[in-house]
Amino acid sequence: MWWYTAPTIVRSFLEGYDFSGKTIILFATSGGSGLGKIAKELASSCPGAKILEGRLLNGNPSEAALKQWAESL
Ligand SMILES: Cc1cc2nc3c(=O)[nH]c(=O)nc-3n(C[C@H](O)[C@H](O)[C@H](O)COP(=O)(O)O)c2cc1C
Repeated sequence: MWWYTAPTIVRSFLEGYDFSGKTIILFATSGGSGLGKIAKELASSCPGAKILEGRLLNGNPSEAALKQWAESL
């Protein structure tokens, strides 16, 4: 999270590929702020994709916890 949104490089990545028809699950680290409006803000960079909020991964979550989360999606 940079200034309550995704760093510009994330938009550049999304705009560099065709994500139409894909589902994107957001994840991020931050200094404490939440994902806020990022799903809405990134929509224009990946037209036709569905963006779900996902979660913050602050606090060094274990590989097992990440695997469990990924498999629950
Ligand atoms: C330019 C800049 C802006 C940031 N803005 C936010 C912010 O708005 N909210 C927040 O919680 N953290 C903010 N942070 C903290 C980063 O989200 C945090 O350092 C990062 O997620 C942790 O990854 P790192 O260990 O690679 O730095 C900002 C960091 C930088 C460098």
